[in-house]
Amino acid sequence: MRDTLTVHLGPRSYPISFGTELASQVRMTLDVMAQTGRRVAVVTDANVAANLDAARQAMFGATPTFVAPSGEGSKSLETLGQVLNFCAEQKLGRSDALFAYGGGVIGDLTGYAAASWLRGVDFYQVPTTLLAMVDSSVGGKTGINLAAGKNLVGAFHQPRGVFIATELLATLPPREFAAGCAEIIKTGLLGDLELFARLERAPLSLSSADLTDVIRRCCALKARVVEADEFETAQDGGRALLNLGHTFCHAIEQATGYGAYLHGEAVAVGLCAAARLSQKLGLISTDDVARIERVIAIHQLPTRLKAPLLMTDLTAAMARDKKVRVGQLRFVVLQLLGQAVTRDSVDSALAAACFREVGAV
Ligand code: NAD
Ligand code: GLY
Repeated sequence: MRDTLTVHLGPRSYPISFGTELASQVRMTLDVMAQTGRRVAVVTDANVAANLDAARQAMFGATPTFVAPSGEGSKSLETLGQVLNFCAEQKLGRSDALFAYGGGVIGDLTGYAAASWLRGVDFYQVPTTLLAMVDSSVGGKTGINLAAGKNLVGAFHQPRGVFIATELLATLPPREFAAGCAEIIKTGLLGDLELFARLERAPLSLSSADLTDVIRRCCALKARVVEADEFETAQDGGRALLNLGHTFCHAIEQATGYGAYLHGEAVAVGLCAAARLSQKLGLISTDDVARIERVIAIHQLPTRLKAPLLMTDLTAAMARDKKVRVGQLRFVVLQLLGQAVTRDSVDSALAAACFREVGAV
């Protein structure tokens, strides 16, 4: 059954398709492109290639495919170079397109390659992780990491379409499923209290009857936010709200070398720190903080750092956050559960106190 949500961005608008027969839709998209002489190439990673090969063949047949190493390490200049060389080998032209078949790493990498190749070609997202289905495949933020920081290089480049087929999640390891739940909890907290309440009632799982509804709800909220502030230029609020917990999260990921934490796990600890910051700023109550930590814990996610990290490393990483404005730390905080706001000039000592409460030393 076909169910579509549109991200309305004028000439850059695109559909997000949800359903169980998406392989045929992907094939149809490829066929339509082939009829007009447009060529396509796929980028995936080694785990996805191994676990979801039958689905890949059903969607893409013998389409040329680049297989990157799995994991955050592939959001690198080196792998980007390999993908661009692959585009060159495949002689992709201005009217050709890339398909990202994988999680957020492959989506971000492929999107940035598509933004860069010949100064921009089309790309499509076929997310295979829960995190990518609820967050990264929508909105057009693409990019890679540098040693100096997470997502420091990138481009806004919207996909032409997103195909969300939840059956692809059947092979996803439980730890990765939980990581996706962190972004769903974030979505509920920042703008959808009903969704948060749903997560409080029972943890989401692969067998939840409402899994597709929950994913759709996250995409709908993200689409609304992106439509209002595509390039994250709003003075207050806007797209930056999608980064609730992420100033802390990115510092954790950077301080641990992008290895010890899955992105969603760092988001979970970051949400706990952001909740504490919101409470210290007098916005939410200690009971609210406890509710947030409980939801995170029942989704098998960490509420504290797995091992102590040095405050000096974390504060140095936070100072490089993209939300820093004229040297002032800028945080997304909760005004209420289900309503986030941006807060400028947050005292760095207060942020450090929150980091200490979740385990920094
Ligand atoms: P990921 O892409 O590394 O995927 C996680 C792991 O699961 C990988 O090892 C992958 O090979 C494997 N995998 C993927 N699908 C599978 C499947 N169906 N079965 C078995 N294994 C599978 O990680 P992720 O959590 O999807 O994405 C994290 C990345 O997304 C981070 O780099 C983060 O910065 C980025 N992100 C981007 C945005 C955005 O708006 N662009 C938003 C949120 C996160
Ligand atoms: N993940 C944050 C954004 O898309 O803006």
